[in-house]
Amino acid sequence: MVLVLLIVLVTFLSLNDLLETVAARDPTLTVIIVGAGMSGISTAKTLSDAGIKNILILEGTDRIGGPIKKTKFSGLSVEVGANWVEGVNGKEVNPIWTMANHIGLKTYYSDYDHLPANTYKHMGGVYEKSIAQKAYDTADGISEFSKNLSVALTSERKEDISILASQRLGSHVPSTPLEMAIDYYTYDYEFGEPPRVTSLQNTEPLPTFTNFGEDLYFVADSRGYESVVHYVAKQFLTTNKAGDIIDPRLKLNKAVTEIQYSRSGVVVKTEDGSVYKAAYVMVSASVGVLQTKLINFVPDLPAWKLLAIYQFDMSVYTKIFLKFPHKFWPTGNGTEFFIYAHEKRGYYPIWQQLENQYPGANCLLVTQQPESATKAEIMEVLRNMFGKNIPDATDILIPKWWSDRFYKGTFSNWPIGVTRYEYDQIRAPVGRVYFTGEHTSEHYNGYVHGAYLAGIDSANILIKCAKWKLCTYNVNPKRDINLNANATRTSNDLTYWQLHEKQLRE
Ligand SMILES: Cc1cc2nc3c(=O)[nH]c(=O)nc-3n(C[C@H](O)[C@H](O)[C@H](O)COP(=O)(O)OP(=O)(O)OC[C@H]3O[C@@H](n4cnc5c(N)ncnc54)[C@H](O)[C@@H]3O)c2cc1C
Ligand SMILES: *[C@@H]1O[C@H](CO)[C@@H](O)[C@H](O)[C@H]1NC(C)=O
Ligand SMILES: *[C@@H]1O[C@H](CO)[C@@H](O)[C@H](O)[C@H]1NC(C)=O
Ligand SMILES: *[C@@H]1O[C@H](CO)[C@@H](O)[C@H](O)[C@H]1NC(C)=O
Repeated sequence: MVLVLLIVLVTFLSLNDLLETVAARDPTLTVIIVGAGMSGISTAKTLSDAGIKNILILEGTDRIGGPIKKTKFSGLSVEVGANWVEGVNGKEVNPIWTMANHIGLKTYYSDYDHLPANTYKHMGGVYEKSIAQKAYDTADGISEFSKNLSVALTSERKEDISILASQRLGSHVPSTPLEMAIDYYTYDYEFGEPPRVTSLQNTEPLPTFTNFGEDLYFVADSRGYESVVHYVAKQFLTTNKAGDIIDPRLKLNKAVTEIQYSRSGVVVKTEDGSVYKAAYVMVSASVGVLQTKLINFVPDLPAWKLLAIYQFDMSVYTKIFLKFPHKFWPTGNGTEFFIYAHEKRGYYPIWQQLENQYPGANCLLVTQQPESATKAEIMEVLRNMFGKNIPDATDILIPKWWSDRFYKGTFSNWPIGVTRYEYDQIRAPVGRVYFTGEHTSEHYNGYVHGAYLAGIDSANILIKCAKWKLCTYNVNPKRDINLNANATRTSNDLTYWQLHEKQLRE
């Protein structure tokens, strides 16, 4: 009799009821999302589309978009963070490219093909084109060698190595100023860190380029690159007649300082003393932030999780805008990008003149790693290239992402020796605490599209649990770096974090 009753009960409890049981623990909220960058917004939209509308987004700064951020510079709208839609014109369409076109964002194809004619020597004058061309071709060759080696190592299930180690194996370690400048352009300009610390297996070949295409489009639009984030946000958040987001489920200036989690739910505290309760929390703060103590997890995150987070790298990539009274650099077709080959590797190496994007504004953009750049250093470099008589910059913008407590760097870079298994642990939930962000993207870490796609993926993992009670998350087996569908799992691999999860639930 009892048994029959039980069966009846179970049949009558629809999945929606189950969801409500979860929400009933705290009638107010199902999910709190920490951070309103691209991944946080894309998570929230995915939850909302799945019927989970009982959400609250807490953002520490006074805006949405994170490092997709415009600012005014000498009357122009420039991007202090992400600037390019990267990965265009390939076999698959980059979702950010689709959005950019949909909203009519002004973008400019970045043509790097003319670099060999625009590469400057340390003390001025450009390299003879044929000499430079040869160096660029050699660098292309070694890069192809690295791709081949990476594929081979992966299929043989060998340990990861750095890009530099691969260059050594290929008997070509960049050492002259020209070679080092090209090397910086090839790797540091993309990953924000040098080949010495960058994973070969996870960056060569790079899924962004192989899947979405090798082309880059530079965004220069007065609405800002961040309008793609607004575009996603406005599909599920309420706006007023002027188009501003007024939805109470988005709260700005709410720095999360503590996340308590237990079997029954989560409690999230913000710096201003507010306390919010929910069934789940989704943390989208950067891996740089997770490596600091800004958010205090109670209890502490388990060791496997901390290990995964601390192993990953947050790079620092500094783009500096400069304005001059007049132009002293070449303009016209094939001159947009130029390279400076200093004896010191990575010393203000990549330059872009922005005449196409901002006609008549006399602006340059230079890329450099530490944010300790100074106007004096930059002027010295420019005088080396263009002579003593050029005018001083009248305005300079050096964004500081590393020293900002909400970012602690610019984007994640895949370090040597972190396998797919350990990488999966960065995304893996800990009880009711879920994780998203570009650093959790399966194939596209470090990019706007990575953040967008990661938001969708992490939301789907949470939805499976909240809606369908499928709360176990399988981490890819340790040796499964070849994405081989038939790789065998060892029980050890499978249960490492599931065990922990079980302990938590008991
Ligand atoms: C200088 C620079 C150049 C770049 N160039 C490109 C490019 O050209 N092309 C490209 O595709 N990508 C580029 N990127 C990378 C791209 O911008 C990021 O990968 C992406 O925007 C990250 O989105 P996210 O949601 O993962 O993280 P974020 O946008 O950082 O989202 C996290 C959010 O959480 C907030 N937050 C953090 N801590 C807390 C807290 N404790 N409480 C509340 N809120 C908190 C942050 O303010 C932020 O809004 C660049 C990035 C930088 C910085
Ligand atoms: C890389 O592999 C391809 C395809 O196997 C081959 O054609 C090419 O010569 C290789 N390149 C280098 C530099 O090893
Ligand atoms: C510049 O290049 C574009 C496209 O390649 C071409 O249409 C245009 O005529 C060129 N302009 C000059 C001044 O050479
Ligand atoms: C996996 O194994 C199945 C059956 O043994 C086989 O048909 C399939 O091709 C294999 N897939 C891969 C990626 O090796």
